[in-house]
Amino acid sequence: MPSPQAMEPSFRLAMLAERIDAWFGLHYPPARWGDLLRAMNNAAAAFGAPSAEALVLRLLSGDPEPRHLEMLATHLTIGETYFFRERVGLEVIRDFLVPDWLARHRGDGRPLRIWCAGCSTGEEPYSLSMLLDGAANPVSGVECLATDINKDALDRARGGVFGDWSLRNTPSWLKSRYFQPLPDGRFALSPAIRGSVSFDILNLADGAGLERHGPAASFDIILCRNVLMYFSAERITQVCQLFHRALADKGWLLVGLTEAPNLSVPGLEPVQLGGITVFRKTCVGVLAEPLVPVGMPDLSDAPDSAPPPCSEAVDACEMARGFADQARWVEAREWCETALRNDKLNPVPHFLLAHVEEATHRPDMAIRSLRRALYLYPDFIAAQFAFGRIELALGKREAARRHFGRARDALAQMPPDEIVAETGGLTAGRLIQILCHIEDGVPA
Ligand SMILES: C[S@@+](CC[C@H](N)C(=O)[O-])C[C@H]1O[C@@H](n2cnc3c(N)ncnc32)[C@H](O)[C@@H]1O
Repeated sequence: MPSPQAMEPSFRLAMLAERIDAWFGLHYPPARWGDLLRAMNNAAAAFGAPSAEALVLRLLSGDPEPRHLEMLATHLTIGETYFFRERVGLEVIRDFLVPDWLARHRGDGRPLRIWCAGCSTGEEPYSLSMLLDGAANPVSGVECLATDINKDALDRARGGVFGDWSLRNTPSWLKSRYFQPLPDGRFALSPAIRGSVSFDILNLADGAGLERHGPAASFDIILCRNVLMYFSAERITQVCQLFHRALADKGWLLVGLTEAPNLSVPGLEPVQLGGITVFRKTCVGVLAEPLVPVGMPDLSDAPDSAPPPCSEAVDACEMARGFADQARWVEAREWCETALRNDKLNPVPHFLLAHVEEATHRPDMAIRSLRRALYLYPDFIAAQFAFGRIELALGKREAARRHFGRARDALAQMPPDEIVAETGGLTAGRLIQILCHIEDGVPA
């Protein structure tokens, strides 16, 4: 085997993709090497490497230290999340899974044990905790463990302070009940909800450390949504076997809406509930009777809970994002188009479509979509950033600088630890660093 220095760049990338699969389970087929290179570009600054190529070489020469792997994970993972995302899944927990659990455990004093695997910055487990809080027929106790491989995301989750973007799908009555506005425009989550979730770092590729959180077969519900889409088919099977071991008998696994149709794991039976597929350990077939809801809070019925604007477009965007993250460009494009049919004044689907166009090597079309996104929302930082990157790749340095400059101006208005919309979970501070690094590399 030649040394990494002597390898063809594409061979190096293939080798890096293999290592990343082994370290984190993250799957980078050739169709996603563009994303991998972008991630290396972003990570180079944090590693103090002069370029993405230098970082790739460093990662391939010997075994990286654990702290470097931890740092690398923060750059490779996509942390996009928000409160009450894929709301239908949460409604299925409320309407079916909790009543099912109560019917089997009422009065036995056992807590309901939930594991949210791949929780990112915490919005998902906290949403669930709000949902279970104040239930008319409450469960006797809930233990909620939330894990992720991204240490920075977990720190933000524990901090419990969220920006508007995270709350974009939150019914207003829940917002006023559980969040305190802060002077800087963000929102602090109530201490009771914050205290109801315990966070820990855990790599699903090896599952090491799960034993710290109780014996095998002790979780009643596992949520792992919008995580498996980043793994290879073999890794998905391996991770689902981990879930199978962790689930109590008749326990439930929920995965993301774009992930469920492709999932097939021995010992986890697909069950249709509330219009989606969930998976039950050792259950055969469909539940005979729908279970009776026990008066959990309704996400839509409170008088002041105005539906989020353009919710259909938001859901279609969700699907588009999910397929784009799996490099399934045809489906991603179709969902972008659906979102645009629902609401063509929403800048987000234009932005997502630009991502699809860029990934499928149509920079002109990407630019057209970015222009539309920015016409609708000039301070759309992720769009300015993407526009700058594309212009740079086309050799248009001045145009690139202009877009980077606009992104930087908008970033300067944000608290450094606030997540920037549509960047996969990058904070404003991190994005400024990345911009500086890229701009430093652009010849005058
Ligand atoms: C797109 S977010 C999903 C967040 C949330 N579940 C949701 O649906 O909104 C994907 C999360 O999976 C995490 N992740 C990716 N690979 C992982 C691994 N090997 N072990 C644990 N978490 C991982 C990422 O760090 C990221 O926070």
